[in-house]
Amino acid sequence: METQISNSVNELKIENNENGEEEDDFVDPWNVTSKSQTGVDYDKLIKRFGSSKIDGELLTKWEKVLNQPLHHLLKRQIFFSHRDMHNILKMREEGKSFYLYTGRGPSSDTMHIGHLIPFLFTKWLQEVFDVPLVIQLTDDEKFLWKDLKLEEAKKLAFENAKDILACGFDENKTFIFSDLTFMGQCPEFYQNVVRVQKCVTFNQVKGIFGFGDSDVIGKISFPAIQAAPAFSTSFPFIFGNANIPCLIPCAIDQDPYFRMTRDVAPRLGYHKPALLHSSFIPALQGAKTKMSASDENTAIFLTDTPKQIKNKINKHAFSGGKATIEEHRELGGDCSVDISYQYLTFFLEDDDKLHKIKEDYESGALLTGELKKMLIERVQPIIAEHQKRRATITDEVVKRVMTPRKLNFNFTDKTNK
Ligand code: TRP
Repeated sequence: METQISNSVNELKIENNENGEEEDDFVDPWNVTSKSQTGVDYDKLIKRFGSSKIDGELLTKWEKVLNQPLHHLLKRQIFFSHRDMHNILKMREEGKSFYLYTGRGPSSDTMHIGHLIPFLFTKWLQEVFDVPLVIQLTDDEKFLWKDLKLEEAKKLAFENAKDILACGFDENKTFIFSDLTFMGQCPEFYQNVVRVQKCVTFNQVKGIFGFGDSDVIGKISFPAIQAAPAFSTSFPFIFGNANIPCLIPCAIDQDPYFRMTRDVAPRLGYHKPALLHSSFIPALQGAKTKMSASDENTAIFLTDTPKQIKNKINKHAFSGGKATIEEHRELGGDCSVDISYQYLTFFLEDDDKLHKIKEDYESGALLTGELKKMLIERVQPIIAEHQKRRATITDEVVKRVMTPRKLNFNFTDKTNK
């Protein structure tokens, strides 16, 4: 009998609030929209997806296990939801090992600052847990979904790998792969793909992803390709044939893939991957939509010049300030809708500074123009430094990291049996 994998896309679309009104936050791997200016209601999403909130208790435990301060993206609940993170912390306490898996769909050659978020966080995870990392570039996915030629998709994957490496991953503990290339290099990867394909029916992917009868079969079978890297046997050159648990940091819109993965894992004798979910960085225009590379004015790109950054923020960043200075001084601004403030929660690490900015903006002491200036001065150097690091990532470096090879990690003395 077919098992029902919970929470189909169709169930996620519409819900009524207490007043019986329709609310339609929409979140799937391809679209994210909200009717509310404050953005997607993430607590509701946790309920609908059936994941768990990253609460104070988990954070306290996490901090204790690491014995060092947590990343600001965790403390600020930008990573806000998880599955089985307690297990990962327990493994860490017991000295058992796991690995990290994340990815990116290379749809444009210029990434935006929102794309950096999961990678910056993953870099921190790699550092504090000292574990290997695999990064999937789904050039096959983008070939299937977008108007792209195979060669173009592969090229984008290669270019994106440079931006990813510019985040500072430990080369000796990181393997980046393009699906279009790796599938032909590693039979074990393909074997896991077909194992997953054998466990999931068309009905189930229809339910999870909303595929229809007229979708091409490449799309219908693609989820198995995103699932397979969650199983360590897909990478025999790193893990041998050991069955090592996996932790996946990702944006919450990728959860449907991993609900499916978790559903099939036990049937294949594999561990269910644990997950850490982030919220989305909102578009410059406001939190009703997420930042998107296909709409230039919604995004700050990693290739933008200081001047472009300044102009975009001044011109487009949605303001929670009041219409006139007098009114603003009297009533203060609204941080919950103000995009400049929201971006600072992603990019300004200093808690005290952030707190002061919030206080001053809400009291009216700080004006919108001044707040925007703070954001501009924070983002300009982040992008400039990224550009500098990216310039040092040569084709040779990318090729090396994209070569299947043993990583600098010894699993034999840290097995999980
Ligand atoms: N489908 C993702 C995207 O379009 C890419 C991806 C593949 C991914 N595997 C992943 C993202 C694992 C997060 C975690 O961006």
